[in-house]
Amino acid sequence: MKTNHKPNFRKMVEPDRVRKEVYTDEEIFRHEMERIHETVWIYCGHESQVKNAGDYVTVQIGRQPMIMVRGKDRKINVLYNRCPHRGNMICGDMKGNTGDQFRCSYHAWTFHHDGRLKNIPMMESGYKGTRLTKDSPELCMKRAARVEAYRGFVFASLAKDGPTLKEFLGEAIVAFDDMCDRAPEGEVEIVPNCFRVIQHSNWKLFMENQIDALHPSVTHQSTGRAAHEVEKQLAKKAKSGEAPLSYHMLSAFATVTIDKWDNFQTINYPYGHCILTGYMGLRPQDPDTLAYDKVMIKAYGRKRFEEIVGVNIHHVLVYPGLSVQSPLQQLRAVRPLGVDRTLTEIWHFRLKGAPEAIYRRSLAYYNLVNSPATLINADDLENFWKCHTGLSSDGGDWVSFARHHGRDIENKGVVSSAPNMGTSEAPMRNQMKAWAKYMSGAAQEGSR
Ligand code: FES
Ligand SMILES: [Fe+2]
Repeated sequence: MKTNHKPNFRKMVEPDRVRKEVYTDEEIFRHEMERIHETVWIYCGHESQVKNAGDYVTVQIGRQPMIMVRGKDRKINVLYNRCPHRGNMICGDMKGNTGDQFRCSYHAWTFHHDGRLKNIPMMESGYKGTRLTKDSPELCMKRAARVEAYRGFVFASLAKDGPTLKEFLGEAIVAFDDMCDRAPEGEVEIVPNCFRVIQHSNWKLFMENQIDALHPSVTHQSTGRAAHEVEKQLAKKAKSGEAPLSYHMLSAFATVTIDKWDNFQTINYPYGHCILTGYMGLRPQDPDTLAYDKVMIKAYGRKRFEEIVGVNIHHVLVYPGLSVQSPLQQLRAVRPLGVDRTLTEIWHFRLKGAPEAIYRRSLAYYNLVNSPATLINADDLENFWKCHTGLSSDGGDWVSFARHHGRDIENKGVVSSAPNMGTSEAPMRNQMKAWAKYMSGAAQEGSR
C-alpha cells in the first residue's frame, strides 16, 4: 500500500546514532535513490572496458539501467538503456560491441552511439502527420546529464547541476592517483571480468564495513589464524625462511590485533568520503618487488618513486558507491537493488608497464581477500545479513556510532580520528551526516 508519509530525515540522524528505519524503510530507500545515487557522481566503469568504437558495458546507476559506450569520435557516452519507442532495453547483455549503431530488438529503430536517432523503419509513411518528426528529441535515447572521467575512471551524474567530478571527489581523488601512479606508464588497465556478489542487506552496511577498522581482527580472526598456522609451517620449510607473500594477506587478519588497528587513522571529508590510512602490506623486499622498484625508478626517478610507493592508504571510500584499495589495484562498486538487497562488483586492474609478478600479487589479493569464494568475504556477508535481520526486528530503535565520539579532530570540515583511535566510528558518523544533508536536499541541488 502506498503511503504519503514524508520521513523527517534530519530527525533520524543524531551525531552519534541513527534510527534503524534508515536501513529498512522502503520509502526511505526510494528517496535515497532519487536524492543520492541518481544525483551524485556514480562510477560507471573504466575507459579500458570500451577500447573500440561500439564497445559497451551496461551499468546500474541508482534504479536506472544505463549503457556506457565508446563512439566513433572516441568519446564515451552514458545513455539510459531504454528505447524511446516503447521502452525496450536496447542492450540485454552486460557487454559487447554494438557495431556502427544501436538497433532495438523490438521494432528495429536504430541510434548513433551518442543516442541520436538514426532511423525508423518506414518513418515517412508511418509517422506522417503525427507529433513525431525525424528531429523530435523524444526519438533519441536519453543521455546521462553529465559524464566525466578522471585518469580513465568514468563517472556519470544524472543531475544537470552540482559539483564537477573533481569538486565532488575532493581529497578522495588520491584513490585514482595512487592507483595509476604505481604503474610505470602512469595508467592502469581493467581486468575485464569482475566478481558480482549480492548481499542481503541495505547498501549502507557495506559502505560502513569498508572502513570499519575494528571488525577485521574480530570477524576475520578465524580465517587469519588458520592462514597464520600454515604460513608458519611453510616458513619453516622454506630456504628463505619466509612463506609466500599471499599467506600474509590472510594471516594479517589475525596478527594485526584490535589494538594495532587503533594505530591506523581515518580522515573523513564532506560528501561522506573517507581515507583509511595504514597499508598493512608495507613494502616487502622480495625479488619481485625489487624488480618492480627498478622499473619504477627508471620511469620516475628515485625521488618521485619514493613519494609514490610511500603513499599511506589502506582504503579510500567514495560515498555513496565506491571503495578503492589503490595500493593493490582493487575497486568495489556498490549498486543498491532494493532496501535489503545490494550488488557489489569487485574489479581489479593491471599496472601498465609493471612486471607480471606484480599483477599476480594483485590477483592473489583479489582471490584471497575480495572474492566471494574466500572466507573473508563470507565472514562479512554473514554479518551483513545478520545486521539487516536484526535491524528489521523490534529489538531496538537505534544504531550506535558512539565509539570515540567527541574525540575526533575537526579542521575546516575535515574530521580525523584522533591518534591511536583509528577504530573511531567517525567514518560512520561522517557518512550519516552527508546522508542527512543529501536527503534534506542541502548537499547538492541537482535537477534531472
Ligand atoms: S521498442 Fe524499440 S523499436 Fe520499438
Ligand atoms: Fe571484513
